[in-house]
Amino acid sequence: MIKKAILPVAGLGTRFLPASKSIPKEMVTVVDRPAIEYVVREAVEAGIEQIILVTHASKASIENYFDRNFELETTLEQKKKYDLLEAITNIVPPHVSIVSVRQPQPLGLGHAVLCAKDIVGDDDFAVLLPDVLVKEKTELNDLQRMIQRFDEVDAAQIMVEAVPENLVNQYGIVDVAQNPNEGESIKMEGIVEKPSIEDAPSNLSVVGRYVLPNQVMKLLETTPKGAGNEIQLTDAIATLQQSNTVEAYRMQGQTFDCGSKLGYLKAVLHYGIAHEKLGTDFKNLIKELDL
Ligand code: G1P
Repeated sequence: MIKKAILPVAGLGTRFLPASKSIPKEMVTVVDRPAIEYVVREAVEAGIEQIILVTHASKASIENYFDRNFELETTLEQKKKYDLLEAITNIVPPHVSIVSVRQPQPLGLGHAVLCAKDIVGDDDFAVLLPDVLVKEKTELNDLQRMIQRFDEVDAAQIMVEAVPENLVNQYGIVDVAQNPNEGESIKMEGIVEKPSIEDAPSNLSVVGRYVLPNQVMKLLETTPKGAGNEIQLTDAIATLQQSNTVEAYRMQGQTFDCGSKLGYLKAVLHYGIAHEKLGTDFKNLIKELDL
């Protein structure tokens, strides 16, 4: 079973400036918790027990968030604010560890993943890109399904969703013989990073969730710079696919690109409406706007 997940959080978040000038974009709040917490929860729900943050000097607040804060805990305890104490101490369950490693240079997503090589060791692993939030429609989350499928058929799983054709040049795009249904995996014939609209093999875009065999680490070591002059995870997966079966898994949930301002606002709306305690009042607030 896949127990380790790499979360590359070293990116400077230029799409989210000016907010991301001094706050990591992953720490921007979606309703009442930072965006990164949703991604960590998704991984934990899928059975992940070690989260590996590939991080940058400016992102210490992410590590602090998942660490204990003794001073705050003591104060809350003295003031008998036990519900808040519970909220800040149980961000991840005790069997889950969060470790971090630095990406010393911004050489691309493939390079970021490679920075976690020593921590991953010989294990197969998942990768979750924290810009994208996945709001699930079913009990079993998409990543969990991918992990189960990986175990069943021993094939890498790449989560995809359909995007409008004019946006294909912003994503990794997969080549498949036929479109899988939602919740299904299908053998991938190829994968290309940010193709031009004319060259795109389909409109199925890579969402930012991967379940990969350990072999990908070896491949990344020799992957040359590709699109954007960066070492691309997509290119290592393309090499893997020449010798191994790689499958595209079509997701069921809904994605929110929190790395973009409008995607972020959409996430706040959807997660706000669905919030256990705030949802009803939030909906009423929106109604009051009388747009
Ligand atoms: C990365 C991946 C790309 C994927 C995208 C999803 O690109 O390289 O294949 O489709 O994330 O968000 P980035 O957005 O980092 O340029």
